[in-house]
This record gives sequence, C-alpha cells and structure tokens, in this order.
Amino acid sequence: MCGIVGYIGHRNAWDVIIKGLHRLEYRGYDSAGVALMNGDIKTYKKAGKVSDLENFAHDLDKSGSVGMGHTRWATHGAPSDRNSHPHYSGDGRLSIIHNGIIENYAVLKEALQLKGHEFRSDTDTEVLIHLIEEIQNSDGLELFEAVRVALHEVVGAYAIVVMSNEDPDVLIAARKGSPMVIGVGQDEYFIASDASPIVEYTKNVIYLKDNQIAYIKRDELVIKSTDNRIQTPYIQELELKLEMLEKGGFDHFMLKEIYEQPRSIKDCMRGRIYPNEGKIQLGGLNEYTEKLKNVDRIIIIACGTSWHAGLVAEYLIEEYGRVPVEVEYASEFRYRNPIISEKDIVIAISQSGETADTMAAIEMAKEKGATIFGVCNVVGSSIPRITHAGVYTHAGPEIGVASTKAFTAQVTVLTLIAFFIAEKRGTIKQSELVHLLTELEDVPGLVEKCLEANDHIVQIAEELKDSRNCLFLGRGTGFPVALEGALKLKEISYIHAEGYPAAEMKHGPIALIDEDMPVVVIATKNSSYEKVISNIQEVKARKGTVIAIVTEGDKDVTKMADYTIEIPNANEAFLPLLATVPLQLLSYHIAVMRGCNVDQPRNLAKSVTVE
Ligand code: F6R
Repeated sequence: MCGIVGYIGHRNAWDVIIKGLHRLEYRGYDSAGVALMNGDIKTYKKAGKVSDLENFAHDLDKSGSVGMGHTRWATHGAPSDRNSHPHYSGDGRLSIIHNGIIENYAVLKEALQLKGHEFRSDTDTEVLIHLIEEIQNSDGLELFEAVRVALHEVVGAYAIVVMSNEDPDVLIAARKGSPMVIGVGQDEYFIASDASPIVEYTKNVIYLKDNQIAYIKRDELVIKSTDNRIQTPYIQELELKLEMLEKGGFDHFMLKEIYEQPRSIKDCMRGRIYPNEGKIQLGGLNEYTEKLKNVDRIIIIACGTSWHAGLVAEYLIEEYGRVPVEVEYASEFRYRNPIISEKDIVIAISQSGETADTMAAIEMAKEKGATIFGVCNVVGSSIPRITHAGVYTHAGPEIGVASTKAFTAQVTVLTLIAFFIAEKRGTIKQSELVHLLTELEDVPGLVEKCLEANDHIVQIAEELKDSRNCLFLGRGTGFPVALEGALKLKEISYIHAEGYPAAEMKHGPIALIDEDMPVVVIATKNSSYEKVISNIQEVKARKGTVIAIVTEGDKDVTKMADYTIEIPNANEAFLPLLATVPLQLLSYHIAVMRGCNVDQPRNLAKSVTVE
C-alpha cells in the first residue's frame, strides 16, 4: 500500500513528485504529502487525494530540486492531515516517507517516549524517524549510518526515503518487503514504488533489493546492504512505455483495460503456443518437467480476483492434467498448519506480486519443502523473487484498482499451465491439444466480439443501476466467473452482490429472490446448460429478474430471461475468458451511472501489502 516518490536533480522536484504521485495513486489515495528541500525542509500534506494536496499548495512556494512525496492507504492512524506523510523528527530536522508496516512500532514508541520523544501522529512511520533522530543524537552518526542502524531495530516491511536539513543534497532510500525502484538519469535520480513515475525521464532503473540501503546525491549513488556491505547496482532497461500509463482516450483506466483484453490475452500467449505442433513452451517451467510429471497434488494460493483465477485453474488442471488441485485463500492458508510435502507444487497467483498474505503463504509452503511457481503480472515485483519458477502474465500495467485484464491474463496463463501439465503427463491426446490450442489462438478475436455488446450492456446497466443487491450464478467454470462478476460489481458500484454455484441457490439464497432481486446467470451452451435452465426457471418462478450470459443464437434461455447478453460460441475451457468480459462492462457502466469513482473505489488499494 502507499506510493512513494523521491527526486534529486536539476528539475523542479514538486512537479516530478506530484506527477509521480498521480501515477501511484492506485496504491492508496486517502491522503498525500510532499517534502521539499528549500533552504530547509518544507512539508505540504493533506488528507484526500493528490489533487487535494495540489489545491492546498496552489499558492505556496514549491521551489526546490530535492524532495519526496507519498500517497497513503491508511494502516496505523485514520486518514487525516496529521497522519499524512512525510513525518518528521522531534526537532524537525529529519523527514521520512514510508510504505509498509513497522510491526514493533508500539515497543519502539514506548522506549522513545521514555527518552522524552513526543509524537504528533498515530502512525508507525513517525516512530522510525524519531528512532533515527535518537540514534543520531546519542551516537553522533551520519545520516546514512543512523538510518542503517535504525533499520536493524525494525520488524516489518518498509520502503522509505529520508531527508535531513543537515544533508540538503542527499536522499537515503531503503527497502525490505515493499517495492522500490531507482531511476538513473544524467545527474539526477528518481525513487519510486514502481517504475511508472520514472519512465518518462529515464529508461535505466535499479530495482532495490530487500535489505539494501541507498545513499543518493545528484551525481553519486552508493548502495549497501543493511549489514554494511557494498552492493553492485544492476541497471536494467525498462520495457514500460509511457502510453501504457495513460487513458488513451478512454474515460477511465478500467474501461481502457477492459478494451485492452484482446491484446493482453494475445501478448500472454505470444511465443508460448504452437497450435500446429500441439506444443506449449513455458520457459520458466521447463526445468520442472520431471517434477510436474510426478506431482501428486497442486495447491493454488491467491487473494481476491486472483483467487477466482485459481478456481478456474482447478477445473482445467484437474480436467486435462488429472492432478488433484486445492485452491486456498492465502490469508487462511498461512495461518493453518497445512499438510504440505516436498512432492507438492504450489502455484501463487498475484497481479501485483506484492500481496502480503500471498507472500507469507509462499514462505510457509517453501519452508515445508514445496516447489513454488508464481503467476504474476508486475515484472520485478517481490513474489517472482521468492518463487522457484514462474510465468509472467504480460498484461501490461493495470492501473484501475478493480482487476480486469490481469484476471483474463491470469486465466490464460493458467490455461497454458494446465495444458502444459497435461502434455508432460501424457493425459491429453496430441490431436486434442492441437484442437484446443487452435481454438485458444482465436480467443482474442472472440473477446473482441464480446466487447461489441457494450451498447446493449449500457441499456441493461440503466435498468439495474438502482438495485440494492444482485446475485450471480454459474456452474463449472461459470462459477468462478459468477464470483468475479459479483466482486467487480460490489467493489466499484457498492451494490451488495454475491456469487454462487447455481445449484447451491436452493440451499439458501433462493429465499432472497423477489421482484427486486436481479440475478445474473452464466447460461452458455456447455455441459451444464440444461441444469442452468432449471435454475433460471426457479428464479423466474419467484419473480426475480434474470440477466443471462448466453451463447450467440441461443433460443431457450432467451425465451425465459429478462435480458440476455450474447457471447461467441467457444470450447467450454475458454468460457471464463469470454463470459467475464460482459460482466466487467456491466459493473463498469452501473458504477459510472451511480457516480462512483470507478478507478479508485473507496477503501481499496491496488496492492495489498498489509495482512
Ligand atoms: C479485485 C482485486 C483484488 C485483487 C487482490 C489480490 O478487483 O483487484 O481482489 O485481486 O487484492 O491482488 P494481487 O493479484 O495483486 O495479489
């Protein structure tokens, strides 16, 4: 959570930082602040969005070419002006921004209070800057050393930037468990939680590693480990392009990302499928072929939308690879004492690659000897670093907080993994694989066709926008699609929504159905079509409004449903990639009609780096 930006160079630091904070707002948007070196440290901070901070500071002097900024998702302390970052030391000499959580802050705070420190905020972050101040005062250490020593006392996760009045041309940056990138320019350096604030200035970046601390001047960069060993920085070239971070004519990032799906699914398959030969190439997993051949069980761990992608994978891996699969919420799994053996493979799915619960679950499974594969979108994020192997989804940056193209990219990669396992284990005929891969290659074009229903979906959204509740039903791979449809609707429109396996409806949720209850049903022509028709009849008999996702040309469901949305006919294995798209559009339009902030829904953040 929280986004951080730092700058030292020859440009106006405020401009670089504010632009960067806008790019990072997906990480948190309940308060924002900037510190600029202008004679001494000048701090500007405000509860609310980055634009509120801009309005607040509109008429103030914002000169300076060294500074740092923060956009917050509150953990310790409510969103307020005083809890906003930057925080400063008791004497106002030092300033800090922080992304992460200092778990032992209460103990540290108590010890510092006994030494006379007084705190102005309720945050864990302020404790750290007082600790650095205390170390400097008592041990007479230089800033870099004082920060390094202080970090040894900290339990938890952090990405921090520190400034001092006494070292006006220096920024100190450090990370452990929270991401941090350093952009390398000509006599200038940029620091950020991801590369998006940096890309327009330089393509050369260093991904700081855990337990590294950087001393940064305009023309000097020294990186050490927190145990004081010099580190050689590895400068790499960014693949990210500026236009990927802009709305490109769409009203919202979410809509742009929905429309990007034909491209992102294609990118995800590029160089990985060879339909004519019936071959799948997943370079990251090649060396685990023997392991996959002999695996007894696969455990999938993830959170939220990524967990839904995991449920789709359960169907596909069991169907084609014939391996038992368990899908677990990472947050539950990590606190159980699960039975895991060295023969198990764990697949961790995460768009951001930073989700705290998923990371902790990976560490636990690793300790118990399992082999861990990652399915992540953000290149260079933390999860790919702690897994044994993995496959990137290559969906490009996802900025809308509600996940759309990342979900379909995850499902695409997991479909490839299912086929890869089946091929290696010999549980699929070569001719069937040729057939499936040939169809899969056509999926981006079919998603394009799904998007053509947009105008029709706007009309349905108009009818549903004032609903207070909504039920989503599906069977087979339609069930995770129903869960995902419900999650999208609740998170961006604040309409209460539930996803259910269609047959479970009669075990409880049917009691909710009356004329005020819209029910979205995944009713495409597949193996459970007849059964879903019965479920629709049960809803209609109780006067519920049915919105059905159907296969084009459908007659039976169309006769019964109040509204239908057609998707192209495709193999059942690819249903989630198609049926999810109209549900994304439906939620999007309902949320826009209700005046909701689609890209930044209340209380949410894009990467959940706290448990
Ligand atoms: C919903 C959504 C979240 C994430 C979840 C996991 O639209 O985006 O439910 O899916 O927070 O995040 P990642 O995939 O980054 O681990």
